[in-house]
Amino acid sequence: MTISLNEPQSDGAAALDLDVCVVGLGYVGLPTAAVLATRGRRVAGFDLRRDILDTINAGRIHIVEPELDALVRAAVLAGTLRAVAEPVPARTFLICVPTPITSDHRPDLAAVEAASRALVPVLRPGNLVVLESTVPPGTLRDLVAPILRQSGLVVGKDLFVAHAPERVLPGAVLREVVENERIVGGLTDACTDRCATFYEGFVRAEVHRTSAEVAEFTKLAENAYRDVNVAYANELANVSAHLHLDVWEVIRLANRHPRVQILRPGPGVGGHCIAVDPWFIAASAPEHTPLIQAARQVNDGRPERILGQVRGLAGKLRAPTIALLGLSYKPDIDDLRESPALHIAEAVHREALGDVLLVEPHLQSSPIAGCPLVSLDDALARADILAILVAHRDFRRLRSADLLRVMVVDAVGLLAGADNKRV
Ligand SMILES: NC(=O)c1ccc[n+]([C@@H]2O[C@H](COP(=O)([O-])OP(=O)(O)OC[C@H]3O[C@@H](n4cnc5c(N)ncnc54)[C@H](O)[C@@H]3O)[C@@H](O)[C@H]2O)c1
Repeated sequence: MTISLNEPQSDGAAALDLDVCVVGLGYVGLPTAAVLATRGRRVAGFDLRRDILDTINAGRIHIVEPELDALVRAAVLAGTLRAVAEPVPARTFLICVPTPITSDHRPDLAAVEAASRALVPVLRPGNLVVLESTVPPGTLRDLVAPILRQSGLVVGKDLFVAHAPERVLPGAVLREVVENERIVGGLTDACTDRCATFYEGFVRAEVHRTSAEVAEFTKLAENAYRDVNVAYANELANVSAHLHLDVWEVIRLANRHPRVQILRPGPGVGGHCIAVDPWFIAASAPEHTPLIQAARQVNDGRPERILGQVRGLAGKLRAPTIALLGLSYKPDIDDLRESPALHIAEAVHREALGDVLLVEPHLQSSPIAGCPLVSLDDALARADILAILVAHRDFRRLRSADLLRVMVVDAVGLLAGADNKRV
């Protein structure tokens, strides 16, 4: 059966022979859907946001991810990918919805719950439901499975339910979706096997089989590991500032030790994964996570430290122009979610430390009202103070010699020229 792209999906039966229905078309779901759709699968993508559906069905994308636009366009034109406003029957469902934390650092699983409920009416015997979203241990068994059982299907017999946490790196998602090793953990062995077989169909690396709970905790352990290591680098930066030492030199020299590999300090940890997922572990075992919780505090304290440096310089000048270089939460992407750089920029503006110029090559418009988005050259010509907040590739041409006229806060060591490992 061919699928007409622009036909509204009112009746699920029209799409009964779809291979995959992806729930949530964001940074994880859309690339995954596009990769599957360009590898011979017939894919529907379901999202709550009408604007996203319209964009995708027009063959365009709403996020910045290298080469994704061409892939989505090709899949939509070929008729193997379309975005739909409600879930449709398919053989396999991939849940890729957000899993943020609440203001008091508790897991917010509302989207996972809603997505699971939305699938119940379209589930058929033999279906595989995979939760790709990052979740606290026990979520698949205690939250998702009871909802899916409302379909009347028996898990492990005629419905297969598993967790396959996503590990992709924004900016390299299309490569990593197929090249990263995967961990799959089902609610039963049969669920695990069905899920592993699905991923082995397009992943070129090893697919590891385990339980749902181990898969859930392993993903969290990976991101907490990153967070703790970044916190160590950030704490060294705090200590170095206190002792008036150059942290970049300290780290560069320490990393000449054959068994030391310290990461780079920065303005904090942002995004929706590394700054969030450690809290899922902490919420599961508050008494047993002093290190993980301390790391979160160190990293969350970094924007205030960088802001303090900007305040210090601004206090030396009358009505300075302050250029903030980079707003995304990591280099070479457009993603502003929980970005420490954005928090710093907002605070510089809020505190009226000076006229604020924003340099963010990955954005088309300024995210802060009253702060214009300008080019790097414009900022270099106009700013009295320059705060480098993200090590974007576009900024790497900067040399100390270009900056003799301005005062600089280099939160990411861009000018240090160190050979430290990038975070
Ligand atoms: N982005 C990454 O690099 C990355 C990497 C690994 C894991 N993850 C995890 O993957 C999951 C998804 O992350 P993301 O970055 O793709 O999120 P995202 O916010 O970019 O995309 C999620 C999409 O889901 C949609 N959505 C929300 N609730 C929905 C619902 N009930 N039904 C249908 N659609 C719904 C949203 O509109 C949005 O388009 C999260 O658990 C995240 O922690 C993300």
